[in-house]
Amino acid sequence: MNDSLVILGRQPRLGLAELESLYGSDNVVAVGGSAAVLHIAPCSIDFARLGGAIRLCKMLTELDTTNWKQIERFLIQASPSQAAKMPEGKMHLGFSAYDLSISPQQLLATGLTVKKVIQQTGRSVRLVPNKTTELNTAQVIHNNLTKPNGWELVFVRNGEKTLVAQTVFVQNIDSYAERDFGRPKRDARVGMLPPKLAQIIINLATGPSEFAAIKDKLSNDAICMPPEDVQKMHSERRNTTLLDPFCGTGVVLQEALLMGYSVIGTDIEPRMIDYTRQNLEWLAAKYPVNAAPTDLASGDATATQWPPVSMVACETYLGRPFTSTPKPEILAQTMTDCNLIIKKFLRNIHGQLRPGARLCLAIPAWQVKTGQFRHLPLVDQITDLGYNQVRFERIGDAELLYYRPDQIVARELLIITRK
Ligand SMILES: C[S@@+](CC[C@H](N)C(=O)[O-])C[C@H]1O[C@@H](n2cnc3c(N)ncnc32)[C@H](O)[C@@H]1O
Repeated sequence: MNDSLVILGRQPRLGLAELESLYGSDNVVAVGGSAAVLHIAPCSIDFARLGGAIRLCKMLTELDTTNWKQIERFLIQASPSQAAKMPEGKMHLGFSAYDLSISPQQLLATGLTVKKVIQQTGRSVRLVPNKTTELNTAQVIHNNLTKPNGWELVFVRNGEKTLVAQTVFVQNIDSYAERDFGRPKRDARVGMLPPKLAQIIINLATGPSEFAAIKDKLSNDAICMPPEDVQKMHSERRNTTLLDPFCGTGVVLQEALLMGYSVIGTDIEPRMIDYTRQNLEWLAAKYPVNAAPTDLASGDATATQWPPVSMVACETYLGRPFTSTPKPEILAQTMTDCNLIIKKFLRNIHGQLRPGARLCLAIPAWQVKTGQFRHLPLVDQITDLGYNQVRFERIGDAELLYYRPDQIVARELLIITRK
């Protein structure tokens, strides 16, 4: 079995769309509400670029049961031989279960039983005790569960079956925090685009052709992507130029540079260009990225002429940052303003893109009642504007929304290609 299991983040539907975008619908199978199986080996997955995934696991087996006692019996029988294959020394053991009806206490009890069975083979074992059914990212990292002597088993219910997988990679939470809060220039007024969402936007703009082109050049025997393959992917991506025409403080550009793309950023406010420049200089000093781009300039997205670009990824103008539901006439005015700017931008860039070029725009939508959104009229006029909307097999258009429950201004992810 050479499949991967991905545990999805806070907005699993966006994580699923991201996977489908990058790897193609044939390679992605949704599992329950929180995971996906990829028909791709973990070593061919550039996990660090996935904003919507929190764990990457190697699929081990699928059990014909969801009954925990039976799963435990399987573990008692299979664990000693599995442990024997691991490097010598103390083994670090952990369990996480998703969508299974089981308590943390049951999981802990099974962990202790499995620990004992492995110890009987003469091996010392440290078990990370479950206080919840899922170990969090920090627990996985700090207890060395993804190191060669670590063994975190992940159990995910899949209908009447249970998938069993081993964690090989977890999100680097410290790096995300630094890329979010550590940048020298932030601006609450233009909004704070989380780096993970910026990655999702870029991945939705990338589409499946990039992976299709490189997959045969990647090695297939490592447990997770070896550094030389990361290099290979990055050097291929240098020839791809991503444009953010509403770059603000530069989060999308930052994340695109980290993936290895060349970038161009423009914004109507010269101050934002100055902020982006400082932020990208900070990035280049901390992370191994291409030299910070000089291709930053102030410009109105409705009229700018850019050098040739391969794809567009951005968070557009979102209008006023409402903290409570606005009066209908104020909302109507904001919607008109945003609609006009984004529509004029789409008209302006149309002639500058090659046919088939892909764009992902995070545009505003307004939560007027819990779970009820008002959308920009341009969403229904995409064809008339000269674009085709990209549709996903597993995710409906209405699910491509990023928001927190109490947020008025949501980001709607619009993925289109130039006709
Ligand atoms: C929501 S912010 C984007 C924030 C950005 N994602 C970041 O990382 O900080 C929208 C940006 O669009 C810019 N903007 C508004 N109207 C514009 C226009 N017509 N052309 C270009 N930029 C514009 C604003 O100055 C603002 O920086």
